[in-house]
Amino acid sequence: MRSLRSAGQTRWMSVAVMAASAVIAVTGCGDESTGRSAAATSNNGREGQKVFERNGCTSCHSLGEEAKLGPNLNGLWGTSVKLDTGETVTFDEDYVRESLREPDTKSRPDYPGVMPTFSEGRISEKELSYLVKFLEEIGDQPSK
Ligand code: HEC
Repeated sequence: MRSLRSAGQTRWMSVAVMAASAVIAVTGCGDESTGRSAAATSNNGREGQKVFERNGCTSCHSLGEEAKLGPNLNGLWGTSVKLDTGETVTFDEDYVRESLREPDTKSRPDYPGVMPTFSEGRISEKELSYLVKFLEEIGDQPSK
């Protein structure tokens, strides 16, 4: 009786280990593109996520805890961002537009000024509106 039970426990254990590694494999995969929990919720938001990935924003911006060259863009929507002039600005549509079209207009103190300019030739007005939607949708998600 006793050996039977421990055999059963061993089998259960290996199932649990397999399930745990499957979960790790799945989350690991998500991390490579846009980060842990950040995900668009509408169709336009999902289009924006594609624009974000296609234009290499992910190489400098994380959407999770990971530190990259530029600010983490998860959970910023509607919050106050501190600029190097000491002023604060609300992270909203206007600020995101300006950050892409004229990135040198406003700067963050703790980051290098390497944000590329994305003119209409690279990101159209329509793509930019999707991108704004995407950042808005991930804005109210916690950063972990
Ligand atoms: C080469 C690295 C790099 C790439 C690629 C890049 N960024 Fe940035 N981005 C930065 C850095 C660095 C800053 C902060 C610069 C500053 O404040 O002067 C920044 C700032 C921003 C800001 C303002 C954030 C804040 O909190 O003030 C937004 C929004 C933004 N980037 C969006 C994007 C989007 C969308 C893309 C892709 C279309 C992109 N970035 C591509 C490096 C990058």
